[in-house]
Amino acid sequence: VEALLAPKPLRGKKLLITAGPTFEPIDPVRGITNHSSGKMGFAIARAAAEAGAEVTLVAGPVQLRTPRGVQRIDVQSAQQMFRAVLPLAPQHQVFIATAAVADWRPATAHDQKLKKVEGESAAPTIAMVENPDILATVAALARPPFCVGFAAESEKLAEHAEAKRLRKKLPLIVANLGPATFGRDDNALLLIDAAGQRELARADKLTLARELINDIAKRL
Ligand code: CTP
Ligand code: CA
Repeated sequence: VEALLAPKPLRGKKLLITAGPTFEPIDPVRGITNHSSGKMGFAIARAAAEAGAEVTLVAGPVQLRTPRGVQRIDVQSAQQMFRAVLPLAPQHQVFIATAAVADWRPATAHDQKLKKVEGESAAPTIAMVENPDILATVAALARPPFCVGFAAESEKLAEHAEAKRLRKKLPLIVANLGPATFGRDDNALLLIDAAGQRELARADKLTLARELINDIAKRL
């Protein structure tokens, strides 16, 4: 009922959102991932759809229900997320990157399971290579959508987030304390733009998502 009665400030707008962790394979049975739950990104997708937007959600491996009316694309690795997002980005007015994209991946994903070798005691060394920065790449497009970054920082929240905003050339970044918020149902957010900061006080993630969506709608 709440959703039906809600105002529709994003009617006619297309939003692209990334959410969740990525999974970087080592071999067919192993990989590297992180503790992102995807809850904040899914809440934002829901809030955006409630606000009348056409929403595409590119999700890493999470067991969460797709919000009503949201088009979901499931991916595993950062490279898959990159390849899903890049062609879609120019058709969207807003891009919100909430995903905890792995910064590095194993240089080679082995076709067969790595086996222990009789008599060899040395553990394997896994060489890593850097993943593409999805958000920075989208923000650098000739006519980028309105790009919103997320920054989970364990210290110096505002300082680190603002540095990230400038480095990736984003109009808006949303800072939160991580990993303290991973998997929780509540959060507190700090919105940082060129003009300054605004805090969204601790609340459940759907409440925060609705506040963030209203804030973004005013900026378009
Ligand atoms: N991001 C992305 N692609 C990457 C890395 C990050 O799209 N390969 C996005 C995230 O979704 C988030 C923002 O960039 O919106 C900031 O991510 P974060 O990990 O905090 O920043 P990094 O630039 O990776 O810096 P670091 O992890 O060293 O703090
Ligand atoms: Ca990172």
